Amino acid sequence: MKVAVVGTGYVGLVTGVVLADLGNQVICVDKDQRKLEMLRKGQPPIYEPGVEELLKRGLKSGNFTVTDDIAAAVKASEIVYIAVGTPPAEDGTPDLTAVRAVATAIGKAIDKPTVVVNKSTVPVGSGDMVENILREQGADPELFDVVSNPEFLREGSAISDTLRPDRIVIGAKRKEAAIKLVELYATLEAPMIVTDLNSAELIKYGANSFLAMKISFINALSRICELCDANVADVARGMGSDARIGKQFLSAGLGWGGSCFPKDVQGMVKTAERFGYDFGLMNEVIQINEDQTHAFIDRLEKRLGGFEGKTIGLMGLAFKPNTDDIRDAKALVIIDRVLKSGGFIRAYDPVAEENVREIYPDITYVQSVYEIPANADAIVVVTEWNEFRQLSLDRLASSCKGKILFDGRRIYTRKQAEEAGFEYHTIGSR
Ligand code: UDX
Repeated sequence: MKVAVVGTGYVGLVTGVVLADLGNQVICVDKDQRKLEMLRKGQPPIYEPGVEELLKRGLKSGNFTVTDDIAAAVKASEIVYIAVGTPPAEDGTPDLTAVRAVATAIGKAIDKPTVVVNKSTVPVGSGDMVENILREQGADPELFDVVSNPEFLREGSAISDTLRPDRIVIGAKRKEAAIKLVELYATLEAPMIVTDLNSAELIKYGANSFLAMKISFINALSRICELCDANVADVARGMGSDARIGKQFLSAGLGWGGSCFPKDVQGMVKTAERFGYDFGLMNEVIQINEDQTHAFIDRLEKRLGGFEGKTIGLMGLAFKPNTDDIRDAKALVIIDRVLKSGGFIRAYDPVAEENVREIYPDITYVQSVYEIPANADAIVVVTEWNEFRQLSLDRLASSCKGKILFDGRRIYTRKQAEEAGFEYHTIGSR
C-alpha cells in the first residue's frame, strides 16, 4: 500500500521503516531539514536498536523516502499517519498544536479516498477534532476517514514491539476504514481490536496509566519493605506469580519516567476532569512516583551527612536502558538536588551523555564506567544498562573513595556488592 507518515520522531520513524520493510511504499514527512538530511544518508536521528538497518534497507529498496512536502505525500498515499508530538502543556493537558497543524495541511491536500490515521497519543475526542479540521479545510467528507491507531511501542525495543505487538487497536467510525488498516497490518498476524474512535483513544491512556500505577504500587510496597525489613523482589515475585496480576512491570526502582508515562498519566487525569470525573487514584500514582526518587536521594544525603563538597558518581543517565532519551529521567532529579546542595557529579552513560550535557554542561562526564569512582564519595546506579550488570564490582570498588553504592535499580545483590568491598544500599530491602 502507499503510506505517508507525518512526523519522524520515535513513533513516526519506527512505523515508517517497519511498514517499508513489510513491502509498502512509505513517504515520511518532516519539516526539520536536519532530520531529513540525516535520514536520506541512512542515519536515524534517534538512538533505537534496529532502526538504522531497516532505514538503510528501505532507502536501498526505494520503499522508504522522505520529504518536507506534506501535500505531495498526502496526494501520493492512500493511508496518512499523523505521528507528531503531543507534549504536555503547563497544566498537564497535551498540547495538540502540531496535530492541528498537520491535520490542516492534510485537509488541504486530500483529493481522493484517504484514511487519516492518528498515531499520536491524544485525549478522547481528538479524532473528531481532526475530522472537523479536515472538513474545514475543504476535504470532501465522502473521501476521507479518521482512524485512531494508538502506538504501544517501548523505546529500546521499538522495532520488535512494532513487529510483534500484543494487539493492534483500531478505532473508526466506518467499517471500511478499519478494514483498510486491518489489511495493512495483516502480515503481522497480531490480534486486532476494532472499536470506535473514543474507545481507541482511551485504551492508550488506560494502558499507560495502568502500567504506571503498577510500578507506583510496587514502589510504594518497596518503601514499606524498607520499613519492615522485607524484600521487595520476593514480594514482587510472589505477587506477580498470580496470573491475574502478572510478573511484568513490578520492578521497584527510582520511579517511572520517559516520554510517555508522565505525559499520558497527566493526560488521563485531565481527560477525566474534562468529562467531570475526579481520577484521584492517578494523582496518587504520580505522587508516589515523585516521592520514590526523593526518598532514595534523602537516604543518600543522610548517609553522606549532606551533599556539600561531596562527589556523587552516576551510573547511567537515560530514563531507561537502550535509549538516549532523558525526558523525565531520574538522573536529572538527582543531579539537580546534588548540585543545589553544593555537591559534584561524575556521570557515565553509553549514549545519553550528549543530551544531558545540553542541560548540565558543567558536570564531569567520563567515558567508561570505571572512570566514575575516582574521588567519588558514593556511586548511584540510575539506569540498569546491561553493561553495568556484567562489570567487575571489585574493580569499581577498588578505586572508589567512599566505597558506598546506592543501587537505584536493584541490579546487584547485597552479597556481590559487599564482597567487592562496597557498603550497599538499595530500594525495597535493607
Ligand atoms: C511506555 C509503554 O510501555 C509503551 O507501551 C508506550 O507506547 C510508551 O510508554 P517506554 O516509556 O518506552 O514505553 O518505556 P517502558 O519500558 O514502558 O518504561 C517506562 C518507565 O517505567 C521507565 O522509566 C522504566 O524505568 C519504568 N519501569 C518499568 C519501572 O520502574 N519498573 C518496571 O517494572 C517497568
